Amino acid sequence: MNRLTLHTIAPLHGRVRVPGDKSISHRALLLGALAEGTSQVSGFLPCGDCLATLACLRALGVEIETHDQTAPTIHGRGLRGLRKPTGGEHGQTATPLNCARSGTTMRLLAGILAGQPFESVLSGDEQLLRRPMRRIVEPLRRIGAEIEDVDGHAPLTIHGRRLHGCDHSLPIASAQVKSALLLAGLFADGPTTVHQPGPARDHTERMLAAMGAAIETSGLTVTLSPTTSLSPFSLRVPGDVSSAAFPLVGAALVPGSEVTIEGMGINPTRTGLLDVMRAMGAEITLADEREGESEALADVTVCATELRGVEISGDTVVRMIDEFPALAVVATQAHGTTVVRDAAELRVKETDRIATIAAGLRALGARIQALPDGFMVEGPTPLHGGVVDSHSDHRLAMALAVAGLVSEGAVVVENAECIDDSFPGFAELMQKVGAAYD
Ligand code: S3P
Repeated sequence: MNRLTLHTIAPLHGRVRVPGDKSISHRALLLGALAEGTSQVSGFLPCGDCLATLACLRALGVEIETHDQTAPTIHGRGLRGLRKPTGGEHGQTATPLNCARSGTTMRLLAGILAGQPFESVLSGDEQLLRRPMRRIVEPLRRIGAEIEDVDGHAPLTIHGRRLHGCDHSLPIASAQVKSALLLAGLFADGPTTVHQPGPARDHTERMLAAMGAAIETSGLTVTLSPTTSLSPFSLRVPGDVSSAAFPLVGAALVPGSEVTIEGMGINPTRTGLLDVMRAMGAEITLADEREGESEALADVTVCATELRGVEISGDTVVRMIDEFPALAVVATQAHGTTVVRDAAELRVKETDRIATIAAGLRALGARIQALPDGFMVEGPTPLHGGVVDSHSDHRLAMALAVAGLVSEGAVVVENAECIDDSFPGFAELMQKVGAAYD
């Protein structure tokens, strides 16, 4: 059991870089594998989730060099070059691909595998086997894939088929579902159109466009035309805003702090937290805004200020879907009420994040109430110390550790090793900006 406690000894100060964006790192591997030639990635995030994607692709016959873990070279096999991962005595049975705890690995790979001329099995840790897969299985079946699931859950046995173009209207704003359908669309005999109810992250679309695919976005509708090949690429992955959220929140809360995150991705489908914190009164500045290969980045500075409660709903929720554990900690220190609505998706993340963040912060003295589709926090509340559990949810673990920066006693986060699922080096980075950890 791995326990983590963060403390402040002084205000947080410094300029740091966070590891590469997790969503973009997954996509770089998956799309690099399908490219016609060799792709070079730098700033790749070698976290548990992305390493699961890497291992699955290797099992599918893709050669990926990782002499430098943050700079993989991917030898793409083209759209038709993946191989059935086989084992067993006669090499007939498909060896299950282990997606570990990574929903992105499973859902995006399912889209690709639906169009392959072989059978494959997607499995993973117990936590992943509890997450809903019907959201991808049903639309993939609609375009011709044959998929066996276990009551809407993995393991998924996918019998790849010739896929058809389709017009999909998504009931939820999910980049994983949208991306699964676009990736399947690479193997379809006609155009694939996805209508989304909200602005889910668009990294797949941007990367496909950079690789020469005919893909167009108009408002919340994306259309991909059939394609025969994708060009390889050279990509520098920007810093992950979802990881930066934790030091930025720490800086907003610890009086006298000023922290800059250099080279952070500022794709507008990801920066809802910055908008919400500004609305709460936080002082946030962006410097040296620049265009990367397919994503913009900037140096982002947060200074501590007095904060006030806000209401969050609608598209903003989609644009910060992974940042609610961090936001809930901010809300405990803001004056007034913070209300989050339209966020029922939080219930099907690594944990039911509405329940786990409410229970975790309540155990530290916060006034937080779970709602069916969000939560409500009354602030400011002095937090006290305590022992809390991560429930193997990386973002919950980091949020509770950051709560320890403003609590009166130590906050001990148990089972904190899951932090490596998205942010290896989290405690060391917090130390660089002046926090102590044990
Ligand atoms: C992700 C999309 C989001 C997010 C997850 C990563 C992605 O999930 O929560 O951490 O890389 O596409 P949903 O698409 O299910 O909202």
